[in-house]
Amino acid sequence: MARYQENDLPKSKITASSLQKAILIFKYANNHKWKFYVGLVFLLLTSVTALAFPKFMGMLVDCVNKKDAHLANQIALGLGLVLLLQSLFSFFRLSLFVNFTENTLANVRLALYTNLVKLPMSFFSQKRVGELNSRISNDITQIQDTLTTTIAEFLRQFILIIGSFAMLASINIKLTIMMVSVVPLVGVAAVIFGRFIRKYSKKVQDQVAESQVVVEETMQGISIVKAFANEWYEIARYKERIKEVVKMGIKGGQFRGFFASFIIICLFGTIVAVVWYGVQLSIAGEITVGQLFTFILYSSYVGASSGGIAELYAQMQKAIGATERVFELLDETPEKINSNVHIPSINKIKGDVTFNNVAFSYPSRKEVKVLKDINFTANFGQKIALVGPSGMGKSTIASLLLRFYDIDGGEILIDGKNIYDFDLENLRGNMSIVPQDVILFGGTIKENIAYGKPNATDEEIIVAAKQANAYVFIEGFPEKFETIVGERGIKLSGGQRQRIAIARALLKNPSILILDEATSSLDSESEKLVQEALEILMEGRTSIIIAHRLSTIRSADQILVLDNGKISEQGTHQELINLENGLYKNLSNLQFSNS
Ligand SMILES: Nc1ncnc2c1ncn2[C@@H]1O[C@H](COP(=O)(O)OP(=O)(O)O)[C@@H](O)[C@H]1O
Ligand SMILES: [Mg+2]
Repeated sequence: MARYQENDLPKSKITASSLQKAILIFKYANNHKWKFYVGLVFLLLTSVTALAFPKFMGMLVDCVNKKDAHLANQIALGLGLVLLLQSLFSFFRLSLFVNFTENTLANVRLALYTNLVKLPMSFFSQKRVGELNSRISNDITQIQDTLTTTIAEFLRQFILIIGSFAMLASINIKLTIMMVSVVPLVGVAAVIFGRFIRKYSKKVQDQVAESQVVVEETMQGISIVKAFANEWYEIARYKERIKEVVKMGIKGGQFRGFFASFIIICLFGTIVAVVWYGVQLSIAGEITVGQLFTFILYSSYVGASSGGIAELYAQMQKAIGATERVFELLDETPEKINSNVHIPSINKIKGDVTFNNVAFSYPSRKEVKVLKDINFTANFGQKIALVGPSGMGKSTIASLLLRFYDIDGGEILIDGKNIYDFDLENLRGNMSIVPQDVILFGGTIKENIAYGKPNATDEEIIVAAKQANAYVFIEGFPEKFETIVGERGIKLSGGQRQRIAIARALLKNPSILILDEATSSLDSESEKLVQEALEILMEGRTSIIIAHRLSTIRSADQILVLDNGKISEQGTHQELINLENGLYKNLSNLQFSNS
Protein backbone atom coordinates (compact mmCIF):
# COMPACT_ATOMS: atom_id res chain seq x y z
CA MET A 1 0.00 0.00 0.00
CA ALA A 2 1.25 3.49 -0.79
CA ARG A 3 2.53 5.23 2.32
CA TYR A 4 0.86 8.51 1.46
CA GLN A 5 -2.63 8.43 0.11
CA GLU A 6 -3.00 11.44 -2.10
CA ASN A 7 -5.37 13.16 0.29
CA ASP A 8 -3.11 12.63 3.24
CA LEU A 9 -0.12 14.42 1.73
CA PRO A 10 1.45 16.53 4.42
CA LYS A 11 0.84 20.26 4.18
CA SER A 12 3.42 23.00 4.21
CA LYS A 13 2.95 26.50 5.53
CA ILE A 14 2.52 29.05 2.78
CA THR A 15 5.15 31.66 3.52
CA ALA A 16 7.05 34.08 1.33
CA SER A 17 10.08 31.79 1.19
CA SER A 18 8.15 28.57 0.60
CA LEU A 19 6.21 30.31 -2.19
CA GLN A 20 9.44 31.56 -3.69
CA LYS A 21 10.81 28.03 -3.73
CA ALA A 22 7.62 26.57 -5.16
CA ILE A 23 7.63 29.13 -7.95
CA LEU A 24 10.96 27.64 -9.09
CA ILE A 25 8.83 24.97 -10.73
CA PHE A 26 8.18 27.55 -13.44
CA LYS A 27 11.86 27.20 -14.36
CA TYR A 28 10.90 23.86 -15.88
CA ALA A 29 8.26 25.44 -18.11
CA ASN A 30 10.97 26.66 -20.51
CA ASN A 31 9.24 28.34 -23.45
CA HIS A 32 5.76 27.28 -22.36
CA LYS A 33 5.46 29.97 -19.67
CA TRP A 34 3.36 32.26 -21.87
CA LYS A 35 0.57 29.70 -21.86
CA PHE A 36 0.20 30.13 -18.13
CA TYR A 37 0.07 33.91 -18.38
CA VAL A 38 -2.40 33.95 -21.26
CA GLY A 39 -4.42 31.38 -19.31
CA LEU A 40 -4.47 33.85 -16.41
CA VAL A 41 -5.92 36.52 -18.70
CA PHE A 42 -8.70 34.15 -19.74
CA LEU A 43 -9.24 33.34 -16.10
CA LEU A 44 -9.76 37.01 -15.37
CA LEU A 45 -12.20 37.25 -18.28
CA THR A 46 -14.26 34.26 -17.08
CA SER A 47 -14.49 35.89 -13.65
CA VAL A 48 -15.70 39.14 -15.20
CA THR A 49 -18.38 37.37 -17.24
CA ALA A 50 -19.42 35.39 -14.17
CA LEU A 51 -19.81 38.67 -12.30
CA ALA A 52 -21.87 40.20 -15.12
CA PHE A 53 -24.39 37.38 -14.97
CA PRO A 54 -26.36 38.34 -11.79
CA LYS A 55 -26.39 41.99 -12.85
CA PHE A 56 -28.12 41.18 -16.15
CA MET A 57 -30.46 38.70 -14.46
CA GLY A 58 -31.66 41.45 -12.09
CA MET A 59 -32.21 43.81 -14.98
CA LEU A 60 -34.22 41.09 -16.71
CA VAL A 61 -36.45 40.62 -13.65
CA ASP A 62 -37.04 44.38 -13.41
CA CYS A 63 -38.60 44.27 -16.86
CA VAL A 64 -41.69 42.78 -15.15
CA ASN A 65 -42.34 46.01 -13.32
CA LYS A 66 -41.57 48.15 -16.33
CA LYS A 67 -43.74 45.87 -18.52
CA ASP A 68 -41.08 46.27 -21.25
CA ALA A 69 -40.96 43.07 -23.33
CA HIS A 70 -38.59 44.55 -25.91
CA LEU A 71 -35.97 45.41 -23.30
CA ALA A 72 -36.42 41.91 -21.84
CA ASN A 73 -35.61 40.39 -25.22
CA GLN A 74 -32.47 42.48 -25.54
CA ILE A 75 -31.27 41.65 -22.04
CA ALA A 76 -31.91 37.95 -22.64
CA LEU A 77 -29.82 38.16 -25.80
CA GLY A 78 -27.10 39.96 -23.83
CA LEU A 79 -27.19 37.17 -21.26
CA GLY A 80 -26.84 34.61 -24.03
CA LEU A 81 -23.76 36.47 -25.22
CA VAL A 82 -22.34 36.53 -21.69
CA LEU A 83 -22.76 32.78 -21.42
CA LEU A 84 -21.23 32.20 -24.83
CA LEU A 85 -18.21 34.32 -23.95
CA GLN A 86 -17.81 32.62 -20.61
CA SER A 87 -17.84 29.18 -22.17
CA LEU A 88 -15.25 30.27 -24.73
CA PHE A 89 -13.00 31.84 -22.11
CA SER A 90 -13.30 28.74 -19.88
CA PHE A 91 -12.32 26.52 -22.77
CA PHE A 92 -9.17 28.50 -23.53
CA ARG A 93 -8.30 28.93 -19.89
CA LEU A 94 -8.50 25.21 -19.19
CA SER A 95 -6.73 24.00 -22.31
CA LEU A 96 -3.92 26.51 -21.86
CA PHE A 97 -3.38 25.58 -18.22
CA VAL A 98 -3.39 21.87 -19.04
CA ASN A 99 -0.99 22.37 -21.94
CA PHE A 100 1.36 24.40 -19.74
CA THR A 101 1.18 21.85 -16.91
CA GLU A 102 1.77 18.78 -19.06
CA ASN A 103 4.83 20.32 -20.69
CA THR A 104 6.23 21.58 -17.41
CA LEU A 105 5.67 18.33 -15.56
CA ALA A 106 7.22 16.30 -18.37
CA ASN A 107 10.38 18.35 -17.83
CA VAL A 108 10.17 17.91 -14.05
CA ARG A 109 9.67 14.16 -14.41
CA LEU A 110 12.62 13.84 -16.77
CA ALA A 111 14.84 15.95 -14.52
CA LEU A 112 13.83 13.85 -11.51
CA TYR A 113 14.48 10.57 -13.29
CA THR A 114 17.80 11.79 -14.70
CA ASN A 115 18.93 12.78 -11.23
CA LEU A 116 17.59 9.62 -9.59
CA VAL A 117 19.39 7.14 -11.84
CA LYS A 118 22.63 9.02 -11.31
CA LEU A 119 22.38 9.03 -7.51
CA PRO A 120 24.95 6.89 -5.69
CA MET A 121 24.09 3.46 -4.28
CA SER A 122 24.32 4.89 -0.75
CA PHE A 123 21.14 6.88 -1.53
CA PHE A 124 19.23 3.79 -2.58
CA SER A 125 20.39 1.67 0.32
CA GLN A 126 18.89 4.26 2.69
CA LYS A 127 15.52 4.70 0.99
CA ARG A 128 12.90 2.13 0.34
CA VAL A 129 12.64 2.34 -3.41
CA GLY A 130 8.96 1.42 -3.61
CA GLU A 131 8.06 4.11 -1.13
CA LEU A 132 10.14 6.63 -3.02
CA ASN A 133 8.34 5.73 -6.21
CA SER A 134 4.84 6.13 -4.82
CA ARG A 135 5.81 9.33 -3.04
CA ILE A 136 7.11 10.90 -6.22
CA SER A 137 4.04 9.93 -8.20
CA ASN A 138 1.71 11.29 -5.50
CA ASP A 139 3.67 14.52 -5.28
CA ILE A 140 3.63 14.99 -9.03
CA THR A 141 -0.14 14.37 -9.16
CA GLN A 142 -0.66 16.97 -6.46
CA ILE A 143 1.43 19.52 -8.36
CA GLN A 144 -0.42 18.65 -11.54
CA ASP A 145 -3.85 19.25 -9.98
CA THR A 146 -2.65 22.47 -8.48
CA LEU A 147 -1.19 23.87 -11.68
CA THR A 148 -4.18 22.91 -13.83
CA THR A 149 -7.06 23.77 -11.50
CA THR A 150 -6.32 24.72 -7.92
CA ILE A 151 -4.43 27.97 -8.54
CA ALA A 152 -6.94 29.03 -11.18
CA GLU A 153 -9.94 28.16 -9.01
CA PHE A 154 -8.42 29.92 -6.02
CA LEU A 155 -7.87 33.11 -7.99
CA ARG A 156 -11.31 32.89 -9.57
CA GLN A 157 -13.08 32.42 -6.24
CA PHE A 158 -11.04 35.26 -4.81
CA ILE A 159 -12.02 37.60 -7.65
CA LEU A 160 -15.64 36.46 -7.34
CA ILE A 161 -15.74 37.23 -3.62
CA ILE A 162 -14.17 40.68 -4.01
CA GLY A 163 -16.18 41.50 -7.13
CA SER A 164 -19.44 40.28 -5.60
CA PHE A 165 -18.85 42.46 -2.56
CA ALA A 166 -18.27 45.50 -4.74
CA MET A 167 -21.45 44.81 -6.68
CA LEU A 168 -23.42 44.12 -3.47
CA ALA A 169 -22.23 47.34 -1.89
CA SER A 170 -23.25 49.24 -4.99
CA ILE A 171 -26.80 47.90 -4.64
CA ASN A 172 -27.41 48.52 -0.97
CA ILE A 173 -24.99 48.98 1.91
CA LYS A 174 -27.39 48.03 4.72
CA LEU A 175 -28.33 44.74 3.08
CA THR A 176 -24.66 44.00 2.35
CA ILE A 177 -23.66 44.49 5.97
CA MET A 178 -26.49 42.22 7.06
CA MET A 179 -25.36 39.57 4.55
CA VAL A 180 -21.64 39.80 5.39
CA SER A 181 -22.33 39.20 9.04
CA VAL A 182 -23.78 35.73 8.32
CA VAL A 183 -23.18 34.18 4.89
CA PRO A 184 -19.35 33.71 4.85
CA LEU A 185 -19.42 32.46 8.45
CA VAL A 186 -21.98 29.83 7.60
CA GLY A 187 -20.06 28.90 4.42
CA VAL A 188 -16.80 28.33 6.32
CA ALA A 189 -18.54 26.54 9.19
CA ALA A 190 -20.18 24.16 6.72
CA VAL A 191 -16.81 23.31 5.18
CA ILE A 192 -15.11 22.74 8.54
CA PHE A 193 -17.98 20.60 9.75
CA GLY A 194 -17.98 18.68 6.47
CA ARG A 195 -14.26 17.99 6.76
CA PHE A 196 -14.66 16.76 10.33
CA ILE A 197 -17.32 14.31 9.19
CA ARG A 198 -15.12 13.02 6.37
CA LYS A 199 -12.26 12.41 8.80
CA TYR A 200 -14.57 10.64 11.18
CA SER A 201 -15.94 8.30 8.56
CA LYS A 202 -12.36 7.45 7.59
CA LYS A 203 -11.73 6.46 11.20
CA VAL A 204 -14.77 4.19 11.07
CA GLN A 205 -13.42 2.59 7.91
CA ASP A 206 -10.05 1.98 9.57
CA GLN A 207 -11.83 0.33 12.46
CA VAL A 208 -13.69 -1.95 10.04
CA ALA A 209 -10.39 -2.80 8.35
CA GLU A 210 -8.90 -3.71 11.72
CA SER A 211 -11.75 -6.09 12.48
CA GLN A 212 -11.15 -7.58 9.04
CA VAL A 213 -7.56 -8.30 10.04
CA VAL A 214 -8.84 -10.63 12.75
CA VAL A 215 -10.84 -12.56 10.16
CA GLU A 216 -7.87 -12.79 7.80
CA GLU A 217 -5.48 -13.90 10.53
CA THR A 218 -7.75 -16.66 11.75
CA MET A 219 -8.51 -17.88 8.23
CA GLN A 220 -4.82 -18.06 7.40
CA GLY A 221 -3.96 -19.79 10.62
CA ILE A 222 -7.16 -21.81 10.85
CA SER A 223 -5.30 -25.06 11.44
CA ILE A 224 -3.60 -23.55 14.49
CA VAL A 225 -6.91 -22.17 15.79
CA LYS A 226 -8.46 -25.61 15.50
CA ALA A 227 -5.45 -27.49 16.84
CA PHE A 228 -5.63 -25.36 19.98
CA ALA A 229 -9.45 -25.55 20.06
CA ASN A 230 -9.48 -21.78 20.28
CA GLU A 231 -12.54 -21.07 18.12
CA TRP A 232 -14.37 -19.40 20.99
CA TYR A 233 -11.36 -17.33 21.88
CA GLU A 234 -11.22 -15.96 18.32
CA ILE A 235 -14.99 -15.37 18.22
CA ALA A 236 -14.72 -13.32 21.40
CA ARG A 237 -11.85 -11.34 19.90
CA TYR A 238 -13.87 -10.59 16.77
CA LYS A 239 -16.94 -9.66 18.82
CA GLU A 240 -14.89 -7.05 20.69
CA ARG A 241 -13.83 -5.47 17.41
CA ILE A 242 -17.34 -5.51 15.98
CA LYS A 243 -18.68 -3.79 19.10
CA GLU A 244 -16.16 -1.01 18.58
CA VAL A 245 -17.21 -0.58 14.92
CA VAL A 246 -20.87 -0.33 15.88
CA LYS A 247 -20.15 2.25 18.58
CA MET A 248 -18.16 4.42 16.20
CA GLY A 249 -20.64 3.97 13.36
CA ILE A 250 -23.57 5.10 15.51
CA LYS A 251 -21.67 8.14 16.70
CA GLY A 252 -20.81 8.96 13.07
CA GLY A 253 -24.51 8.75 12.21
CA GLN A 254 -25.25 11.27 14.95
CA PHE A 255 -22.62 13.65 13.59
CA ARG A 256 -24.16 13.39 10.14
CA GLY A 257 -27.56 14.07 11.65
CA PHE A 258 -26.21 17.19 13.34
CA PHE A 259 -24.72 18.27 10.06
CA ALA A 260 -28.04 17.93 8.25
CA SER A 261 -29.83 19.93 10.98
CA PHE A 262 -27.08 22.52 10.83
CA ILE A 263 -27.43 22.91 7.07
CA ILE A 264 -31.21 23.23 7.31
CA ILE A 265 -31.21 25.76 10.12
CA CYS A 266 -28.14 27.85 9.31
CA LEU A 267 -27.96 27.77 5.55
CA PHE A 268 -31.63 28.02 4.75
CA GLY A 269 -32.18 30.25 7.78
CA THR A 270 -29.60 32.64 6.38
CA ILE A 271 -31.29 32.67 3.02
CA VAL A 272 -34.64 33.39 4.68
CA ALA A 273 -33.11 36.17 6.77
CA VAL A 274 -31.41 37.89 3.82
CA VAL A 275 -34.47 37.59 1.59
CA TRP A 276 -36.75 38.79 4.39
CA TYR A 277 -34.61 41.87 4.99
CA GLY A 278 -34.35 42.48 1.24
CA VAL A 279 -38.13 42.28 0.89
CA GLN A 280 -38.51 44.84 3.69
CA LEU A 281 -36.10 47.18 1.90
CA SER A 282 -37.89 46.53 -1.36
CA ILE A 283 -41.29 47.40 0.17
CA ALA A 284 -39.76 50.56 1.60
CA GLY A 285 -38.72 51.39 -1.96
CA GLU A 286 -34.97 51.31 -1.28
CA ILE A 287 -34.27 48.61 -3.89
CA THR A 288 -36.16 47.10 -6.82
CA VAL A 289 -37.21 43.46 -7.01
CA GLY A 290 -34.65 42.93 -9.78
CA GLN A 291 -31.92 44.33 -7.51
CA LEU A 292 -33.04 41.98 -4.75
CA PHE A 293 -32.73 39.11 -7.22
CA THR A 294 -29.24 40.26 -8.23
CA PHE A 295 -28.39 40.63 -4.57
CA ILE A 296 -29.36 37.06 -3.78
CA LEU A 297 -27.31 35.70 -6.68
CA TYR A 298 -24.19 37.62 -5.60
CA SER A 299 -24.73 36.47 -2.02
CA SER A 300 -24.79 32.87 -3.18
CA TYR A 301 -21.49 33.52 -5.03
CA VAL A 302 -19.97 34.79 -1.78
CA GLY A 303 -21.30 31.83 0.19
CA ALA A 304 -20.11 29.21 -2.27
CA SER A 305 -16.74 30.83 -2.90
CA SER A 306 -15.86 31.42 0.75
CA GLY A 307 -16.67 27.77 1.40
CA GLY A 308 -14.60 26.55 -1.56
CA ILE A 309 -11.62 28.79 -1.03
CA ALA A 310 -10.73 27.15 2.31
CA GLU A 311 -10.43 23.75 0.63
CA LEU A 312 -8.42 25.24 -2.23
CA TYR A 313 -6.05 26.85 0.24
CA ALA A 314 -5.46 23.45 1.87
CA GLN A 315 -4.77 21.96 -1.58
CA MET A 316 -2.19 24.66 -2.30
CA GLN A 317 -0.47 23.97 1.02
CA LYS A 318 -0.17 20.32 0.05
CA ALA A 319 1.17 21.27 -3.36
CA ILE A 320 3.85 23.44 -1.80
CA GLY A 321 4.88 20.51 0.39
CA ALA A 322 4.97 18.30 -2.69
CA THR A 323 7.11 20.80 -4.60
CA GLU A 324 9.53 21.03 -1.69
CA ARG A 325 9.99 17.26 -1.66
CA VAL A 326 10.48 17.14 -5.42
CA PHE A 327 13.15 19.81 -5.17
CA GLU A 328 14.82 17.95 -2.30
CA LEU A 329 15.29 14.99 -4.65
CA LEU A 330 16.49 17.25 -7.44
CA ASP A 331 19.05 18.72 -5.02
CA GLU A 332 20.57 15.34 -4.09
CA THR A 333 24.10 15.17 -5.43
CA PRO A 334 24.44 12.67 -8.28
CA GLU A 335 27.50 10.60 -9.07
CA LYS A 336 29.93 12.13 -11.54
CA ILE A 337 28.50 10.70 -14.73
CA ASN A 338 29.06 12.62 -17.93
CA SER A 339 26.00 14.62 -18.74
CA ASN A 340 25.82 14.27 -22.49
CA VAL A 341 24.24 11.27 -24.11
CA HIS A 342 26.89 9.09 -25.73
CA ILE A 343 28.31 5.64 -25.85
CA PRO A 344 31.37 6.11 -23.71
CA SER A 345 34.71 5.36 -25.30
CA ILE A 346 36.45 3.25 -22.72
CA ASN A 347 40.19 3.35 -22.13
CA LYS A 348 41.15 -0.26 -21.45
CA ILE A 349 42.72 -0.85 -18.09
CA LYS A 350 45.01 -3.82 -17.45
CA GLY A 351 43.30 -5.25 -14.41
CA ASP A 352 45.70 -5.44 -11.47
CA VAL A 353 43.62 -5.07 -8.31
CA THR A 354 45.02 -4.29 -4.85
CA PHE A 355 43.16 -3.82 -1.56
CA ASN A 356 45.32 -2.16 1.13
CA ASN A 357 43.94 -2.10 4.70
CA VAL A 358 40.43 -1.44 3.40
CA ALA A 359 37.82 -0.67 6.06
CA PHE A 360 34.16 -0.08 5.35
CA SER A 361 30.73 0.21 6.93
CA TYR A 362 27.47 0.97 5.12
CA PRO A 363 26.36 4.60 5.36
CA SER A 364 22.95 3.47 6.62
CA ARG A 365 24.48 1.36 9.39
CA LYS A 366 27.64 3.15 10.36
CA GLU A 367 28.04 1.26 13.65
CA VAL A 368 28.51 -2.13 11.96
CA LYS A 369 32.06 -2.44 10.64
CA VAL A 370 31.47 -4.84 7.74
CA LEU A 371 35.09 -4.81 6.56
CA LYS A 372 37.84 -4.04 9.05
CA ASP A 373 41.16 -4.66 7.36
CA ILE A 374 41.16 -6.25 3.92
CA ASN A 375 44.44 -6.86 2.09
CA PHE A 376 44.93 -8.78 -1.12
CA THR A 377 46.30 -8.47 -4.61
CA ALA A 378 44.87 -9.90 -7.82
CA ASN A 379 47.11 -9.57 -10.82
CA PHE A 380 46.07 -9.44 -14.45
CA GLY A 381 44.80 -12.81 -15.66
CA GLN A 382 44.48 -14.35 -12.21
CA LYS A 383 41.46 -16.01 -10.68
CA ILE A 384 40.93 -14.95 -7.10
CA ALA A 385 38.26 -16.70 -5.06
CA LEU A 386 36.50 -15.18 -2.06
CA VAL A 387 34.89 -17.62 0.36
CA GLY A 388 33.45 -17.42 3.83
CA PRO A 389 30.19 -17.63 5.75
CA SER A 390 27.27 -15.59 4.42
CA GLY A 391 26.93 -12.04 5.66
CA MET A 392 30.72 -11.68 6.02
CA GLY A 393 31.03 -8.98 3.34
CA LYS A 394 31.92 -10.84 0.14
CA SER A 395 29.35 -9.00 -1.98
CA THR A 396 30.38 -5.82 -0.23
CA ILE A 397 33.92 -6.23 -1.59
CA ALA A 398 32.43 -6.51 -5.09
CA SER A 399 30.39 -3.33 -4.53
CA LEU A 400 33.50 -1.46 -3.40
CA LEU A 401 35.38 -2.54 -6.49
CA LEU A 402 32.53 -1.13 -8.59
CA ARG A 403 32.84 2.04 -6.50
CA PHE A 404 29.23 1.92 -5.34
CA TYR A 405 30.31 3.31 -1.97
CA ASP A 406 33.16 5.33 -0.48
CA ILE A 407 35.51 3.37 1.78
CA ASP A 408 36.26 4.50 5.35
CA GLY A 409 39.94 3.55 5.45
CA GLY A 410 42.82 2.15 3.40
CA GLU A 411 42.93 2.23 -0.37
CA ILE A 412 41.85 0.27 -3.41
CA LEU A 413 44.25 0.39 -6.35
CA ILE A 414 43.70 -0.63 -9.93
CA ASP A 415 46.84 -0.78 -12.08
CA GLY A 416 48.49 1.01 -9.14
CA LYS A 417 46.10 3.96 -9.30
CA ASN A 418 43.54 4.82 -6.62
CA ILE A 419 40.07 3.88 -7.90
CA TYR A 420 38.66 7.20 -6.69
CA ASP A 421 40.97 8.91 -9.20
CA PHE A 422 39.41 7.08 -12.14
CA ASP A 423 36.66 8.48 -14.32
CA LEU A 424 33.62 6.66 -12.99
CA GLU A 425 32.22 5.61 -16.36
CA ASN A 426 35.62 4.42 -17.52
CA LEU A 427 36.16 2.43 -14.33
CA ARG A 428 32.79 0.68 -14.49
CA GLY A 429 33.15 0.33 -18.26
CA ASN A 430 36.07 -2.01 -17.62
CA MET A 431 34.18 -4.28 -15.24
CA SER A 432 31.43 -6.84 -15.49
CA ILE A 433 29.48 -8.50 -12.75
CA VAL A 434 27.51 -11.71 -13.01
CA PRO A 435 25.34 -11.77 -9.88
CA GLN A 436 23.41 -14.59 -8.28
CA ASP A 437 20.04 -13.12 -9.19
CA VAL A 438 20.25 -11.89 -12.75
CA ILE A 439 17.93 -9.02 -13.52
CA LEU A 440 16.64 -8.94 -17.10
CA PHE A 441 14.94 -5.82 -18.34
CA GLY A 442 11.61 -5.91 -20.15
CA GLY A 443 12.60 -6.31 -23.81
CA THR A 444 14.02 -8.90 -26.17
CA ILE A 445 16.79 -11.36 -25.40
CA LYS A 446 18.90 -9.53 -27.95
CA GLU A 447 18.44 -6.19 -26.19
CA ASN A 448 19.29 -7.79 -22.88
CA ILE A 449 22.55 -9.25 -24.20
CA ALA A 450 23.41 -6.00 -25.98
CA TYR A 451 23.04 -4.17 -22.64
CA GLY A 452 26.75 -4.89 -22.22
CA LYS A 453 27.59 -3.11 -25.49
CA PRO A 454 24.74 -1.05 -26.96
CA ASN A 455 26.41 -0.74 -30.38
CA ALA A 456 27.15 -4.47 -30.77
CA THR A 457 26.49 -6.07 -34.16
CA ASP A 458 24.22 -9.10 -34.61
CA GLU A 459 27.28 -11.30 -35.26
CA GLU A 460 28.90 -10.20 -32.01
CA ILE A 461 25.71 -10.96 -30.11
CA ILE A 462 25.46 -14.44 -31.65
CA VAL A 463 29.11 -15.23 -30.90
CA ALA A 464 28.65 -14.11 -27.30
CA ALA A 465 25.50 -16.22 -26.96
CA LYS A 466 27.34 -19.26 -28.35
CA GLN A 467 30.28 -18.81 -25.99
CA ALA A 468 27.89 -18.40 -23.10
CA ASN A 469 26.20 -21.74 -23.92
CA ALA A 470 22.99 -19.80 -24.48
CA TYR A 471 22.65 -20.06 -28.26
CA VAL A 472 20.92 -23.44 -28.29
CA PHE A 473 18.13 -22.56 -25.89
CA ILE A 474 17.60 -19.13 -27.47
CA GLU A 475 17.22 -20.72 -30.93
CA GLY A 476 14.70 -23.09 -29.35
CA PHE A 477 12.21 -20.25 -28.80
CA PRO A 478 9.90 -19.47 -31.73
CA GLU A 479 10.99 -15.83 -31.77
CA LYS A 480 14.66 -16.71 -31.08
CA PHE A 481 16.66 -13.57 -30.23
CA GLU A 482 13.52 -11.42 -30.46
CA THR A 483 11.83 -13.32 -27.60
CA ILE A 484 10.47 -10.90 -25.03
CA VAL A 485 11.68 -11.52 -21.47
CA GLY A 486 11.18 -9.71 -18.18
CA GLU A 487 7.98 -8.96 -16.36
CA ARG A 488 5.67 -9.13 -19.38
CA GLY A 489 7.59 -11.73 -21.37
CA ILE A 490 8.42 -15.36 -20.90
CA LYS A 491 10.03 -16.55 -17.72
CA LEU A 492 13.52 -17.95 -18.10
CA SER A 493 15.01 -20.45 -15.68
CA GLY A 494 17.79 -19.40 -13.34
CA GLY A 495 20.42 -21.14 -15.48
CA GLN A 496 19.14 -19.53 -18.68
CA ARG A 497 19.17 -16.07 -17.16
CA GLN A 498 22.65 -16.73 -15.85
CA ARG A 499 23.89 -17.58 -19.34
CA ILE A 500 22.31 -14.42 -20.78
CA ALA A 501 24.13 -12.46 -18.11
CA ILE A 502 27.37 -14.21 -19.12
CA ALA A 503 26.79 -13.34 -22.79
CA ARG A 504 26.18 -9.76 -21.68
CA ALA A 505 29.45 -9.76 -19.74
CA LEU A 506 31.35 -11.37 -22.65
CA LEU A 507 30.16 -8.67 -25.06
CA LYS A 508 31.43 -6.01 -22.73
CA ASN A 509 34.85 -7.69 -22.73
CA PRO A 510 35.82 -6.36 -19.29
CA SER A 511 39.32 -6.30 -17.81
CA ILE A 512 37.93 -7.21 -14.42
CA LEU A 513 35.20 -9.78 -13.97
CA ILE A 514 33.23 -10.30 -10.78
CA LEU A 515 31.22 -13.47 -10.29
CA ASP A 516 29.03 -13.17 -7.19
CA GLU A 517 27.75 -16.66 -6.38
CA ALA A 518 26.91 -16.96 -10.05
CA THR A 519 26.21 -20.68 -9.89
CA SER A 520 24.99 -21.22 -6.36
CA SER A 521 21.26 -21.33 -7.09
CA LEU A 522 21.51 -23.67 -10.08
CA ASP A 523 20.78 -27.35 -10.36
CA SER A 524 23.78 -29.49 -11.29
CA GLU A 525 22.78 -29.80 -14.96
CA SER A 526 22.63 -26.08 -15.64
CA GLU A 527 25.54 -25.51 -13.29
CA LYS A 528 27.68 -27.56 -15.64
CA LEU A 529 26.61 -25.49 -18.66
CA VAL A 530 27.09 -22.23 -16.78
CA GLN A 531 30.44 -23.33 -15.38
CA GLU A 532 31.70 -24.11 -18.89
CA ALA A 533 30.57 -20.69 -20.07
CA LEU A 534 32.23 -19.06 -17.09
CA GLU A 535 35.58 -20.75 -17.85
CA ILE A 536 35.51 -19.11 -21.29
CA LEU A 537 34.43 -15.81 -19.80
CA MET A 538 37.28 -15.78 -17.28
CA GLU A 539 40.02 -16.17 -19.88
CA GLY A 540 42.30 -13.20 -20.39
CA ARG A 541 41.10 -11.05 -17.52
CA THR A 542 41.27 -10.66 -13.77
CA SER A 543 38.45 -12.59 -12.14
CA ILE A 544 37.10 -12.23 -8.63
CA ILE A 545 34.99 -15.29 -7.88
CA ILE A 546 32.69 -15.25 -4.90
CA ALA A 547 31.60 -18.79 -4.33
CA HIS A 548 29.53 -20.78 -1.99
CA ARG A 549 30.31 -24.20 -3.39
CA LEU A 550 34.02 -24.75 -2.92
CA SER A 551 34.14 -27.35 -5.70
CA THR A 552 33.89 -24.55 -8.26
CA ILE A 553 37.00 -22.70 -7.13
CA ARG A 554 39.61 -25.44 -6.69
CA SER A 555 41.57 -24.18 -9.66
CA ALA A 556 41.69 -20.57 -8.44
CA ASP A 557 45.15 -19.01 -8.28
CA GLN A 558 44.41 -17.80 -4.82
CA ILE A 559 41.64 -18.41 -2.30
CA LEU A 560 40.83 -15.77 0.30
CA VAL A 561 38.82 -16.78 3.34
CA LEU A 562 36.85 -13.89 4.76
CA ASP A 563 36.04 -13.96 8.44
CA ASN A 564 34.95 -11.19 10.77
CA GLY A 565 35.88 -8.33 8.46
CA LYS A 566 39.37 -9.68 7.79
CA ILE A 567 41.01 -12.19 5.53
CA SER A 568 41.84 -15.03 7.87
CA GLU A 569 43.39 -17.48 5.40
CA GLN A 570 44.94 -17.03 2.01
CA GLY A 571 46.52 -19.46 -0.46
CA THR A 572 45.81 -22.15 -3.06
CA HIS A 573 43.37 -24.97 -2.42
CA GLN A 574 46.25 -27.33 -1.62
CA GLU A 575 47.82 -24.89 0.86
CA LEU A 576 44.56 -24.12 2.67
CA ILE A 577 43.41 -27.73 2.88
CA ASN A 578 46.61 -28.54 4.75
CA LEU A 579 46.06 -25.90 7.43
CA GLU A 580 45.25 -27.68 10.70
CA ASN A 581 41.94 -26.31 12.16
CA GLY A 582 41.65 -23.93 9.23
CA LEU A 583 38.25 -22.43 8.39
CA TYR A 584 38.62 -23.46 4.74
CA LYS A 585 39.47 -27.01 5.70
CA ASN A 586 36.40 -27.15 7.96
CA LEU A 587 34.09 -25.69 5.30
CA SER A 588 35.55 -28.07 2.76
CA ASN A 589 35.08 -31.12 4.96
CA LEU A 590 31.50 -30.05 5.72
CA GLN A 591 30.60 -29.73 2.05
CA PHE A 592 32.42 -32.91 1.11
CA SER A 593 30.53 -34.96 3.69
CA ASN A 594 27.23 -33.44 2.56
CA SER A 595 27.58 -34.36 -1.08
N1 LIG B 1 23.02 -1.94 1.50
C1 LIG B 1 23.34 -2.32 2.72
N2 LIG B 1 23.13 -1.50 3.76
C2 LIG B 1 23.45 -1.87 5.02
N3 LIG B 1 23.99 -3.05 5.34
C3 LIG B 1 24.22 -3.92 4.34
C4 LIG B 1 23.91 -3.61 2.99
N4 LIG B 1 24.25 -4.66 2.22
C5 LIG B 1 24.76 -5.58 3.05
N5 LIG B 1 24.75 -5.15 4.32
C6 LIG B 1 25.27 -5.87 5.49
O1 LIG B 1 26.64 -6.05 5.33
C7 LIG B 1 27.06 -7.35 5.75
C8 LIG B 1 27.77 -8.05 4.61
O2 LIG B 1 26.85 -8.30 3.57
P1 LIG B 1 27.29 -8.99 2.19
O3 LIG B 1 28.48 -8.29 1.67
O4 LIG B 1 26.10 -9.04 1.34
O5 LIG B 1 27.68 -10.44 2.70
P2 LIG B 1 27.99 -11.75 1.84
O6 LIG B 1 27.97 -11.40 0.41
O7 LIG B 1 29.33 -12.19 2.33
O8 LIG B 1 26.95 -12.74 2.21
C9 LIG B 1 25.81 -8.05 6.21
O9 LIG B 1 25.77 -7.96 7.62
C10 LIG B 1 24.67 -7.25 5.62
O10 LIG B 1 23.56 -7.26 6.49
MG1 LIG C 1 26.61 -11.99 -1.10
